[in-house]
Amino acid sequence: MLCIKVPVKEAEKVKKELMNKDLFDKEHYIKKDKEFIYFPARKRFKTKYKFVHKILKKKKPRTDLKGSLVKKLNKKDLEVLRTSMDVIGDIAILEIPKELEKKEKLIAKEVLRANKSIKTVLKKGKHEGVFRTQKLEHLAGEKTKEAVYKENNVTLKLDVEQVYFSPRLGNERKRVYKTVKKGEDILVMFSGCSPYTCVIAKNTKAKHVTGVEINPEAHNYALQNVLINKLNNTSVFLGDVRNIVPRLNKKYDRIIMPLPKSAADYLDVALKASKKGTIIHFYDFQKETETNKSVEKIKKACKTAKKKCRILKIVKCGQHAPREFRICVEFKVV
Ligand SMILES: C[S@@+](CC[C@H](N)C(=O)[O-])C[C@H]1O[C@@H](n2cnc3c(N)ncnc32)[C@H](O)[C@@H]1O
Repeated sequence: MLCIKVPVKEAEKVKKELMNKDLFDKEHYIKKDKEFIYFPARKRFKTKYKFVHKILKKKKPRTDLKGSLVKKLNKKDLEVLRTSMDVIGDIAILEIPKELEKKEKLIAKEVLRANKSIKTVLKKGKHEGVFRTQKLEHLAGEKTKEAVYKENNVTLKLDVEQVYFSPRLGNERKRVYKTVKKGEDILVMFSGCSPYTCVIAKNTKAKHVTGVEINPEAHNYALQNVLINKLNNTSVFLGDVRNIVPRLNKKYDRIIMPLPKSAADYLDVALKASKKGTIIHFYDFQKETETNKSVEKIKKACKTAKKKCRILKIVKCGQHAPREFRICVEFKVV
């Protein structure tokens, strides 16, 4: 990274000059030692100070929208403004309330201005249909919907409109991979562009990880992501889990079911692919006080499948709607 090397005593003056010339690279942190400060510079310019190259930490994009819009919107607008956005690679996805639709371009342009690492701003839609995808309207910047995203030591390429993906679930994926033990054979149902599949395969000593996804676009990216991350203990299949899983004819040590809207409809498929000791991560949308309803769904499916289970834990892993959460019920087939 190109930096300007400035004696600590003169730092303030030089920082101001860099700012005035719009040459201060705000995407990187500054570096400091006893005598000098190294300011990230966008390009060289005429100065008495030396330019050097340093490795500087990159800043995360600002996801706090309010902070950067305080001067551009009135008080009423700011009250309805959604305060956070999803950032997938260099694409930002904003939720625009009805009241702010007339100002959506202004808001989007401000996001671009305040975050040099964001190249495209899209307007959030509603997750719909079997593929759980959302229509995303272009608001500002480059007209692309393909992003490259990094989390949990993997790189994921995807089209944010044609494929379901939530960067907010990165911590949940981490929580899940941390529970995986050496030698496990794992099935990820509803695997999308393969975030769970890749994260588990990359970060654990699992024997094999299998993903099954019905959306051809998502499957296409899953194939690419397995290659990008150089995973050789991973297979991904295109199709309905109801057809594919029985054909794979295997019993797994761990089964992940990340389809909270309707995973319950596939508990019979998961139970058929389970054996004594299999751990199933069952996702559901539920009110905090009604998690027993999710447990009931599991108990009913187990009864029909003539299997016994023990609930291990219930984890709240994201908000879905006011007072409704995405939960993960982990249970063991015993
Ligand atoms: C909520 S998304 C989760 C995707 C991915 N696991 C992730 O975390 O990003 C659910 C995925 O299940 C897929 N899906 C829905 N029904 C399916 C089925 N019967 N068989 C296989 N995949 C299915 C959808 O296309 C979608 O990609």
